[in-house]
Amino acid sequence: MRIVSCKDYAEMSRVAGNLMAAEIIKNPSCVLGLATGSTPIGAYEHLVELYKSGDISFKDVKTYNLDEYRGLAHDHDQSYHYFMNENLFKHVDIDMKNTHVPDGSNPDAEAACAEYDKMVEEAGGVALQLLGIGNNGHIGFNEPGSVFVGPTHCVDLTESTIVANSRLFERIEDVPRQAYTMGIKTIMSAKRVVIVANGEAKAEAVKAMIEGPIDPMCQASILQLHPDVVVVCDEAALSLCSSVK
Ligand code: F6R
Repeated sequence: MRIVSCKDYAEMSRVAGNLMAAEIIKNPSCVLGLATGSTPIGAYEHLVELYKSGDISFKDVKTYNLDEYRGLAHDHDQSYHYFMNENLFKHVDIDMKNTHVPDGSNPDAEAACAEYDKMVEEAGGVALQLLGIGNNGHIGFNEPGSVFVGPTHCVDLTESTIVANSRLFERIEDVPRQAYTMGIKTIMSAKRVVIVANGEAKAEAVKAMIEGPIDPMCQASILQLHPDVVVVCDEAALSLCSSVK
């Protein structure tokens, strides 16, 4: 794992956005794996700036998002379809046909998940996967548990994730209890992984990811086995890591 310690959120966002931009410059028709949540918003803003200044184009880029709540329509303002449109897609020249998010509106979980894996595979896999990390160490919505699950699958969200994500909903009862998420196999198959985290609330999870044992109770710890992971964090998120100066 390569650890990049940034002084604040702005620097973290610039570094992560630049790594993604570099991938697009290297291969203008690359396949990017994308994340939602609060953490990557700054990186998306940086990518939009780079697009507006003419440094990059998304014309031929393909994207596959990590996850989506089960049961939300694509235009629901808390759906990850909506999030991606608002935070990235509608600001750049991406062809919406090249953007993909698991279909949370399909109640047939098995079909929706199998179809998603097939699409990622047919696209040739992910070149660069952007990840955030949950307070409980989840990546995508792969929640702490007794195993690492390979394929895209339907998960029951843990109480800690429901509580963490309720900040974006009017009432905690409105947070969906299930989601479709890329599994660990697709994430680990990406050629490069960039994981972002900021703030003290993520410090325990970041320590477990970098310095803990490889343990499905911290799903992000599996990334220790990936050959090309860049961990981009602010100082607060790295504050409990004794191995990071
Ligand atoms: C989002 C996702 C989640 C988030 C994680 C952190 O697509 O897969 O794993 O990255 O929950 O969320 P934030 O950034 O809101 O703290």
